[in-house]
This record gives sequence, C-alpha cells and structure tokens, in this order.
Amino acid sequence: MFATLLQSTLLLAAALSTASAICVLPSTEPLSNNITTGFAIQVQNTSYPIINNRLMNLWQAGGGDRHLYLFPAGDQTSNLTLQNGIITRLPIRAVINGEYTATDNTTKIFMTERGDPRAFFDVIYGCNQTDGSVQKELSFSGRGTLPGGHICVRLASGDRYEFRYSPPGNTATARLCMKVTLAIMESEP
Ligand SMILES: *[C@@H]1O[C@H](CO)[C@@H](O)[C@H](O)[C@H]1NC(C)=O
Ligand SMILES: *[C@@H]1O[C@H](CO)[C@@H](O)[C@H](O)[C@H]1NC(C)=O
Ligand SMILES: *[C@@H]1O[C@H](CO)[C@@H](O)[C@H](O)[C@H]1NC(C)=O
Ligand SMILES: *[C@@H]1O[C@H](CO)[C@@H](O)[C@H](O)[C@H]1NC(C)=O
Ligand SMILES: *[C@@H]1O[C@H](CO)[C@@H](O)[C@H](O)[C@H]1NC(C)=O
Repeated sequence: MFATLLQSTLLLAAALSTASAICVLPSTEPLSNNITTGFAIQVQNTSYPIINNRLMNLWQAGGGDRHLYLFPAGDQTSNLTLQNGIITRLPIRAVINGEYTATDNTTKIFMTERGDPRAFFDVIYGCNQTDGSVQKELSFSGRGTLPGGHICVRLASGDRYEFRYSPPGNTATARLCMKVTLAIMESEP
C-alpha cells in the first residue's frame, strides 16, 4: 500500500518534471527584429480563456488604416512582417495613438501609413502557456521613444476585442484590459 503510494508519487513527480522540461528555450541569443516571411499573431493569456489562443485580425478603417481586433471581427491576416521591430504590412505599420481612455489609461494601437509613434517589438523565444511548446513571441519594447509598457486587449462595442497599449507603471484599473502575449504563427513555407 505504502510502496504503491510512494511509487505513484514518484511517477507523478517524474511526469511533472518531464512536463516542465518540455519547454526548453533553444537559446538566449537575441533574435533578429526583422521577419520577412509572412506571419499571423495569436494572443495568449490562459487566465482569460475567452481571448486565449485567438488570432489578431485587421479591420478595414478609413484612409487605408486597419484597426486590430481579435477573430472573428475583421479579416484574417497571415502576411504580417516585422521591419526593424515594427509590425508591417506595406504600406501600413503598427502605431500607438488616439482614442485614449482614462479609465484604464490605455491608448489605441492600430496600423496606418501615417507617422504616428511606432509600436516597437523584440523577438524572443517563449513557452506556449497552453501546451508548453516553444514559440517565438513579439515582446513589446516601447512606444516611439518611450520604452516599456505592454499590449492588452479589452472588450469594445459590438462584442469585439480591441488592441490597446498600456504604458509602463499603469495603475488605472477601472476598466479591464487584459495583458497578452503576442505569439508569432509563421506561415508554412
Ligand atoms: C532589418 O531590415 C532593415 C531594412 O528593412 C535593415 O536596414 C536592418 O539593418 C535590418 N536589421 C537587421 C538586424 O538585420
Ligand atoms: C496581404 O494579404 C491581403 C489579403 O490576402 C492582401 O489584400 C494584401 O495585399 C497583402 N499585403 C501584402 C503586403 O502582402
Ligand atoms: C499553443 O498551444 C495551443 C494548444 O496546443 C494551440 O492551440 C496554439 O495554437 C498554440 N500556439 C502557438 C503559437 O503555436
Ligand atoms: C497613465 O499613463 C501615463 C503615461 O502615459 C503615466 O504618466 C500615468 O502615471 C498613468 N496613470 C496611472 C493612473 O497609472
Ligand atoms: C493576464 O492578464 C492579466 C490582466 O491584465 C495580467 O495581470 C496577467 O499578467 C496576464 N497574464 C499573462 C501570462 O500575461
């Protein structure tokens, strides 16, 4: 009885260590902040199943702009590139500006041809929060010349989830904006 219990405890411990050993990041070498092959972006936050593992879509707006929403709002997009750390689909690029709201102290991130402050990202290896596989992620590094902060998504009108920028040290919590990991889903060659 005791031996069986001990054995199963050991087996469980071994299984758990195997599970955590699954996600070994390949290297700590910095990855290039240029990605020329098209990719899609999947958001992850397992604390919020309603948004976890959903794709980022582009919603057609005025003047060639595209606004960022979670699937199923907007158009599925797998031909994004990263140019000098900026999410790009020529001729538009990801910027942060406008539609500021004080309740969560966040600002809109969207894609445009215009020269608003750019959203900058580094490329890093990370662990898929759902299945522990190794993935590449876009790690937010800053808005224009202001470093830090993060990207979050929040519920907007029409039951759509929109993308926002939360500045460093943001303490406003009157409206929920869920911090997300942006996983890169590269297209098959
Ligand atoms: C990224 O691409 C740009 C041109 O789009 C180039 O100027 C820059 O040197 C490249 N950076 C790296 C790290 O390869
Ligand atoms: C990306 O794909 C969309 C939809 O398929 C297409 O309309 C657009 O021209 C493509 N853009 C680039 C830069 O590849
Ligand atoms: C992360 O894992 C989940 C579950 O296997 C999967 O649905 C999702 O597509 C994965 N994400 C990436 C970027 O591979
Ligand atoms: C809101 O963000 C600004 C930076 O954009 C920051 O200076 C300010 O402290 C923030 N306010 C709160 C309540 O976090
Ligand atoms: C999930 O979202 C919450 C609320 O924004 C945040 O505090 C938490 O850090 C996020 N989890 C991850 C793994 O990003």
